Amino acid sequence: MSHFILDCDPGHDDAVAMLFAAKHLSLSGITTVFGNTNVDNTTKNALALIDAAGIEVPVAQGAAGPLSGTLESGESVHGKSGLDGANLPQGHQQSVTESGAEFLISAARKESDLVIIAIAPLTNLALALKQAPDIAQKIQEISIMGGSTGVGNVTPVAEFNIFADPEAAAIVFSSGIPIRMAGLNITSKFGINASQVAALRASSALLPREIGGALDYYLTRQHSIYGRTHAPIHDVCAVIPYTHPDLIQYESMHVEVEYQGDITRGQTVCDQRGIMSDDGLSPPKFKNARVAISARGETISNLAIESLLSYT
Ligand code: BDR
Ligand code: CA
Repeated sequence: MSHFILDCDPGHDDAVAMLFAAKHLSLSGITTVFGNTNVDNTTKNALALIDAAGIEVPVAQGAAGPLSGTLESGESVHGKSGLDGANLPQGHQQSVTESGAEFLISAARKESDLVIIAIAPLTNLALALKQAPDIAQKIQEISIMGGSTGVGNVTPVAEFNIFADPEAAAIVFSSGIPIRMAGLNITSKFGINASQVAALRASSALLPREIGGALDYYLTRQHSIYGRTHAPIHDVCAVIPYTHPDLIQYESMHVEVEYQGDITRGQTVCDQRGIMSDDGLSPPKFKNARVAISARGETISNLAIESLLSYT
């Protein structure tokens, strides 16, 4: 089995993805980044989660802000702490001294089968690629939660993880590393419902109960912002190809990140028809990404709940 690193900004759905990944895969490391809240909070949340889950895995704190542009935050969805609604004890483990980018570089140089599951702004990966371009040949795959083949959630066309650092996302998508992209076009369509949240909250075990509290908060925010009756678990979708490969279908296509447009900054332009070429005459551009186009959402949600309830 490959070596896996989770690059994340916990974050409610990041927490679900982390706990799901830890049950099904062997994680070699966790890198954190700004995003749903500031990077001190996302690191604190990651350390609290692994401690409560009884997992020993190195955590490296990553970037505090984007390569350029303004600092975005998902606090309107995830609360000030990034994981509002949960009351987890502070973790005992400390983050390692390497930065997120340094951690990714050493892991890529050490392991020939490294998969990076990237469920947050792509700044750590872009910094790693800028500092050590050789790692592009060494990383087996990057599985991203981010972007969309259609509508966005921050602007009409941009999804949060890409919008928070479009320059970084452009570096990653053009790196030549095999990419999977699970975007909003599938991840926002399903999620955890109120009765599943209630089941978690009723657990006698600390971790599922506190995650239940967190998802209760998150579901309320999803309802008031988007009118949803489910809480999307976007980030889990980037883990699924390695645990239950039949549940998400992908299609290969050329994807480019728009970072210059006034109203389209952060859009992932997905060439579903295979018509983009450099000059309109030469062959279509290289299919650099496998893009998720359909998913068995109810099964994914049920599996996520099952894995959360299994933490006793
Ligand atoms: C993505 O943005 C974050 O708020 C979530 O954790 C997820 O990674 C969804 O747009
Ligand atoms: Ca995330």
